Amino acid sequence: MKVLVTGGCGYIGSHTCVELLDNGYDVVVVDNLSNSKENVIEKIKKITGKKIKFYKEDICNKNKLDEIFSKEKIDAVIHFAGFKAVGESVKKPLMYYRNNLDSTITLLEVMNKHNCKKIVFSSSATVYGSPKKLPITEDSSLHTTNPYGTTKLMIEMILNDLYISDNDWSIAILRYFNPIGAHKSGLIGEDPNGIPNNLMPYIVKVATKELKELSVFGNDYDTIDGTGVRDYIHVVDLAKGHIKAIEKVSKDKGIDTYNLGTGNGYSVLQIINTFKEVNKVDVPYKIVERRDGDIASCYASCEKAKKLLNWEAKLDIYEMCRDSYNYVKKNK
Ligand SMILES: NC(=O)c1ccc[n+]([C@@H]2O[C@H](COP(=O)([O-])OP(=O)(O)OC[C@H]3O[C@@H](n4cnc5c(N)ncnc54)[C@H](O)[C@@H]3O)[C@@H](O)[C@H]2O)c1
Repeated sequence: MKVLVTGGCGYIGSHTCVELLDNGYDVVVVDNLSNSKENVIEKIKKITGKKIKFYKEDICNKNKLDEIFSKEKIDAVIHFAGFKAVGESVKKPLMYYRNNLDSTITLLEVMNKHNCKKIVFSSSATVYGSPKKLPITEDSSLHTTNPYGTTKLMIEMILNDLYISDNDWSIAILRYFNPIGAHKSGLIGEDPNGIPNNLMPYIVKVATKELKELSVFGNDYDTIDGTGVRDYIHVVDLAKGHIKAIEKVSKDKGIDTYNLGTGNGYSVLQIINTFKEVNKVDVPYKIVERRDGDIASCYASCEKAKKLLNWEAKLDIYEMCRDSYNYVKKNK
């Protein structure tokens, strides 16, 4: 079976390519490298010892995408490509709406034309906004607080409308919680340029002394130690969830949405302390004011994915902290 992976050079996409190849799938990657590097393809080959086809193209380019579909005879698509920085989306909303929506609509049109109607889509827990109850189940109310989140919610709505119009589609929408960690080889992982938005890349940059100290936003939340609690998931577990989702869309028609997290919440201080303990490094931090829009706690119920996809996260917070640091140390 041949799977097209859009955004396959990126953080989650590259780990998913490894799992696909290890599970015997043929993989075709389309990525415009707007947030990744081409050498990731060589690294995926090195990890798996398998061939992988790469096209450096923008998936908003309908003619090119059409050519790729004509040539490759794609059976199913995993759609990662898109911009993902919340703060940047607030500053540049049109850029986010243009890229995330245009790329998806173009992709769906080309898939329709080639009668390829199986897709797994990367959504995000951000579509839950400020959750009213925990753990968050897939039927919780949806509400977004920034343009990035709105693009995810809009794409979910587009996919729902598409399925209503044509029941031949098989669609899995995956709402990720907070992916961290890296492949154990240390060859692929996450290493954002500049000042990171998320906790783990920030901790890593402080541990490697690229940044002086970490700011912890608020220690007076109603949580175990006052700092914000999130559901972190190892990127390799997340990648494995995509294999289960591909199996599901290959088997059953319909549209369904699944949370992919661990179901456990960890506070910022728990993550910092675990990171220090596992990696035997210092991570200086200071407590600062709460950040606008942050919530106290957010973690998933992953029962639906367990029941319907036969998937659950296996790797723990120690492995997440170890592998995040290992990747950056190896790639300095
Ligand atoms: N990392 C997270 O914390 C997180 C959480 C929830 C959801 N997601 C979603 O998962 C997906 C993958 O996230 P990631 O962390 O791997 O991001 P990433 O930026 O590392 O990967 C995205 C890839 O898509 C490519 N891309 C972007 N626009 C493109 C276009 N028009 N044509 C072709 N390629 C394009 C980029 O070059 C990049 O390689 C994204 O859709 C993201 O919104 C990520």
